[in-house]
This record gives sequence, structure tokens and C-alpha cells, in this order.
Amino acid sequence: MTTLGTPLSPTATRVMLLGSGELGKEVLIALQRLGVETIAVDRYDNAPGQQVAHHARTIAMSDPEQLKALIEAEKPQLVVPEIEAIATQMLQQLEEAGTVRVIPTARAARLTMDREGIRRLAAETLGLPTSPYKFCDSLAELQAAIDGGIGYPCIVKPVMSSSGKGQSKIDGPADVQKAWDYAMAGGRVSHGRVIVEGFIDFDYEITLLTVRALAADGTVQTQFCEPIGHVQVSGDYVESWQPHPMAPAALEKAQRIAQAVTADLGGQGLFGVELFVKGEQVWFSEVSPRPHDTGMVTMTTQWQNEFELHARAILGLPVDTALKSPGASAVIYGGADAQGIVFEGVDHALQVPGSELRLFGKPESFVKRRMGVALARAGDIETARRNAKEAASRVKPRAA
Ligand SMILES: Nc1ncnc2c1ncn2[C@@H]1O[C@H](COP(=O)(O)OP(=O)(O)OP(=O)(O)O)[C@@H](O)[C@H]1O
Ligand SMILES: [Mg+2]
Repeated sequence: MTTLGTPLSPTATRVMLLGSGELGKEVLIALQRLGVETIAVDRYDNAPGQQVAHHARTIAMSDPEQLKALIEAEKPQLVVPEIEAIATQMLQQLEEAGTVRVIPTARAARLTMDREGIRRLAAETLGLPTSPYKFCDSLAELQAAIDGGIGYPCIVKPVMSSSGKGQSKIDGPADVQKAWDYAMAGGRVSHGRVIVEGFIDFDYEITLLTVRALAADGTVQTQFCEPIGHVQVSGDYVESWQPHPMAPAALEKAQRIAQAVTADLGGQGLFGVELFVKGEQVWFSEVSPRPHDTGMVTMTTQWQNEFELHARAILGLPVDTALKSPGASAVIYGGADAQGIVFEGVDHALQVPGSELRLFGKPESFVKRRMGVALARAGDIETARRNAKEAASRVKPRAA
């Protein structure tokens, strides 16, 4: 049985978010609605989630000592990682010592912060279909991996990076040096390891949101949301929609893969399983053990969006992954490098039928920083996609 307390009192149920961007902000709102006391942590002040939490803390989350000191001082019952760049070994130590429960598990956070951990688990331990791949520590190793079987075209990514940073496609021998240099500049930490993957010529890619939540009998059950289709530009999501139609055999394979990888990572919570699909063939790409950026569309398409599903699952509450309406999301970029930007045309944007906006409130904008998202629901995904893109394009961010 789950018992929840009263925030800001000795009975409070305390949850700490590590990372408080736009995804963490929505998880925090979902937790607030259940009367959970929330602590929003980020590496800069006034991060989106810090603006809606009971407590805001700013630390370097990749520094094990700072992370330990904060968790010991705040004593949350649950720690919920929102980003990958966290001192996950320290989380594992604190979990093993019984100091805190990490969502979904500290091991899942550790394995998924590094492309090597999760790829080896999926391909080598679980035997799931993935692109052919090799890990390389030098330009010479990269060239040897390509010549030794990966071939052209292929994709190079730093092992520690997200949102397409440092990632590029190699079409032929002339691109190899450039891709290596780009990966070295774009990785999150300055050790030079990359993964090179054979290019999968997929028909489409999906995110399969997968929830591990407690059933009435106290066992963990796995439930799936409808597949989310999306478009990535330079490894960064620009548009998503739900449901993405799939051949029954492909959907079944996708669910089997998602079930296998999330069962191994364990714990309770929502996962974003990224898959490539060609006909009835399905490849595992990667998984986030937390809400996924392409899943922001569920704020308009599901009765319980991915953030509510995560909040419920981690608290031991039942979940409902049912679709409410077809819909789409389209990203709004900052378009300028500036502090405290203004958004013009919000009224004009919301005149688009069935549209909604989320403006994240990030204190600083960059040209390519995601500052908001437009959502649209409609009777079919084509209309929803058109309307979401139209609404997004009517919002005009500009430096004040
Ligand atoms: N082996 C591949 N073959 C074809 N396309 C690929 C391959 N690997 C990656 N991509 C494309 O690049 C996108 C980003 O790749 P990936 O998800 O590995 O990077 P990421 O930096 O983790 O991105 P994010 O953090 O946004 O999920 C994929 O969604 C897909 O569109
Ligand atoms: Mg990805």
C-alpha cells in the first residue's frame, strides 16, 4: 500500500530530481499534484523545474562529493535522474548503502549514461538486434573498424553525449578525419572514445514509451504507450507524433525488445525505448530510463502523459497508458543567443485549432536551444503534425 505525506511537514514524501529541464519540470508538476515535496537540482539557477519545485538547489551533479553531500543533507526518499551527466557511481554507492532509492535503479542510470554500457547489454548480453558497431579510441582504430566490416555509410558518436552532440555520418573515406575531430569536440567528457555504427536505412523510427509499474497484486507489470514517430535533425528531435501506425508484426517485435531491455534495467518508472523499423524488421537503438523528449507529445495525446506515468510508477501507483487523441509536437528553438528573451505571437500560435504551448522558462536562450514546444491534437496525425508545426512557427522568440 502506498501512503503519501504532506509536503513541508515531517510526514512529507520527498523526491529529488537530478536535472530540472523541461522534462524534469513536468515530472515535478505531476509530483506536486500528488502532494509530494520536491527538490529540483540543476547545474544553473532558475532552471525550468526549479521554478515549480518546493526547493531549488544548484550543484555540479557530475561531482560525486557534491552529489553525496546534497543527498545526505536533503534526505529524499527517491532520487530521480533527469539527465545522463550525473555521478552515477556515487548514486550506486548511496543506493547500496540504503541511503536512497534511485529511479528506476542506480545501475540503469549508470549503464545508460554511456553508450557502451547500454549497447553491450542490449546486443551482447540480451542478444537484441542493433546496428553493427565498434568502440574506438583513436582515428586509426576508427578507420580500421570501418574497413574491417562496419563499412560506409556509418555514424560516429562520442560514447558520452546526447542530443546529437559530436555525432556525424560518414559517407566515404574522405569524411573519417572530420567525423573523428567533430566527435572529440562534442563529447561530454574529454576522453576520446567513440562508437561507430553501421547506418540503418530504416523506413521510420519510433520511441516506445514503456512503463514498469506496480499492479494491484504488488508485482511489477510492463505496459506500453502507443508508438511515437519522430523526425531528428542532426541527432536532435524536431517533431513527434502519436500514434505512429505500425505493422502488427513490427509492433510485436518492438514491444518484445522494449520488454527485454526494461526488465533487465529493472525498478519502477517510465522508459523511452528508441527503435528503428524497416518493414517488419526492428532494431534497438538506445533507451532512456526516464521520460523522453519525443514523448512531450503525450501532454496532448494521452490521458496520463509520460510525466504523470513516471510519477505514478515511481510512487507505486497504478498507471493507464491509453491514448486520448492523435496529436503531434513541434520544437520551438531560441533562434538567438540572449538572456531573458521574449516570445512574440503566442496569441497567434494558439489560434491554431487544437493547439497548446509549453514555454519552458529557460533563463538563457541559444540559437539551437529548445525553449518551448507546440502541441496539437487532431482527428489524424497528418493534421496534427501540420498544426503543431504551424503553431510552433507562429511563436517568434527574440532578444529583448
Ligand atoms: N546507426 C544508425 N543508423 C541510422 N540512423 C541513426 C543511427 N544512429 C543514430 N541515428 C539517427 O540519429 C539520431 C540520434 O541518435 P542517438 O539517439 O543515438 O543520439 P543521441 O545523441 O542519444 O540523441 P538523443 O539524446 O536526442 O536521443 C537517431 O534518432 C537516428 O535518427
Ligand atoms: Mg536518441
